[in-house]
Amino acid sequence: MMYASTGGTAGTGNAPGRGQWSSGLGFILAAAGSAVGLGNIWRFPYSTGENGGGAFILVYLVAVAAIGLPVMLLEISLGRATQKNPVGAIAAIRAKGPWKLIGYLAILTGLGILSFYCVIAGEVLAWFADYGQRTVTGTSMLHGFGAGPSIVSFVLFVGLTVLVVAGGVQRGIERWAKILMPLLLVMMIAVTVRGLLLPGAMEGVRWLLMPDFSKIGWKVVLEAMSQAFFSLSLGMGAMLTYGSYLSKHQNIVACGTWVVAFDTLIAVLAGFMIFPAVFALGQEPGAGPTLIFEVLPKVFAAMPGGAFMGMAFFFLLGVAALTSTVSLLEVVTAYFVDELHWSRRKSVVAMGAATVVLGIPSALAWAGVDPLATVRILGQDGLFSLMDFLWVNISLPLGGLLLCVFASLVWGLDAATREIVSSAPRFAAFAGIWRFFIRYVCPVFIAIILLTRLVPV
Ligand code: PFF
Repeated sequence: MMYASTGGTAGTGNAPGRGQWSSGLGFILAAAGSAVGLGNIWRFPYSTGENGGGAFILVYLVAVAAIGLPVMLLEISLGRATQKNPVGAIAAIRAKGPWKLIGYLAILTGLGILSFYCVIAGEVLAWFADYGQRTVTGTSMLHGFGAGPSIVSFVLFVGLTVLVVAGGVQRGIERWAKILMPLLLVMMIAVTVRGLLLPGAMEGVRWLLMPDFSKIGWKVVLEAMSQAFFSLSLGMGAMLTYGSYLSKHQNIVACGTWVVAFDTLIAVLAGFMIFPAVFALGQEPGAGPTLIFEVLPKVFAAMPGGAFMGMAFFFLLGVAALTSTVSLLEVVTAYFVDELHWSRRKSVVAMGAATVVLGIPSALAWAGVDPLATVRILGQDGLFSLMDFLWVNISLPLGGLLLCVFASLVWGLDAATREIVSSAPRFAAFAGIWRFFIRYVCPVFIAIILLTRLVPV
């Protein structure tokens, strides 16, 4: 994290009292830290596995380019123009009427995602902490352990996030993330190479590269689109909030495009890390949220120094998850600090506690003690997938859609364009296309997809 939002050290040109990234690179690192996380390495592969492989990846790439990138530029520019959290940003432009609800939805979604994200992040932490034990006893993380450890590691991860956002370690984590994220990339490449060398791996490569178009239906399109929102940290004001700490001199287009490109690269690489191994090891691609925990330990076991590699990998993945949960909690915290004038410490502790309360049912469900085991709500099996469906499939795209409408009807795309062009003059040539996407393509497309999924025909 490169902003000094605790200390109130203002940078040049931004609102006094608010923090600011020390450089454009600082923004890119923090925003990439937010974007790259479990979404890329845990959710993207299992979603690809459940939705038909190469065809899903193709739709995903289209969603990233056609919706993700335009909305990314919009969120960053609205944040920088207003220098506020999601609620404050909307209110700064239109205080009256229902528009502020978009901001409240963003805050709520932040808490909702945190509540189940920290369950998986806790699982990663637990794998790191007792890697040897788990692989030796052959116990996989899920149902063998009961709910206790799942809740403990979940609460621990929320605690870590709270500590970082509270301010103490911001500079520390920034410095570490700079070293650890490239290390994660190197490690992913090593694991990918090992997986590709397993006998039978090429079948997985073929499955990834040869799209089976018969697999593409509305469900796949919705899943790809919401995965794009989730992976790029869009639709709930995270990029808006991070953009609010960006200096007026930084090029929004360059920064935003870098983050999108890097995040997409990591997701696709994660696909190549997992699926050749899935096929070589005779695993089920559609195994769901447990996929990486079932496949990766087997690949590590086939590597020299496998136990160490496994531990190191889960450690690095935990750090990547932490830079994402930090951004989720930062959005919520920025709202309480800016709008309600709570101290940063009080906001962070209260919201950490709220996350724990909200997340306990998900932690129970993850451990196999599902409070919704026997009821199907909105077509979802179990509480965990219901949470994922509500916050990721619905709330994020809805947030993105509403933001496009707000920008088109209230803020005005002229004002948005001015904000972007002021530090990226060459964007003027593309502004027309961008406005067309924000005004028509993104909202119409998102609305159609949400409706087809929600209103059963
Ligand atoms: N982008 C993160 C990931 O891929 O793991 C998850 C996330 C972070 C989603 C922040 C939304 C957000 F606002």
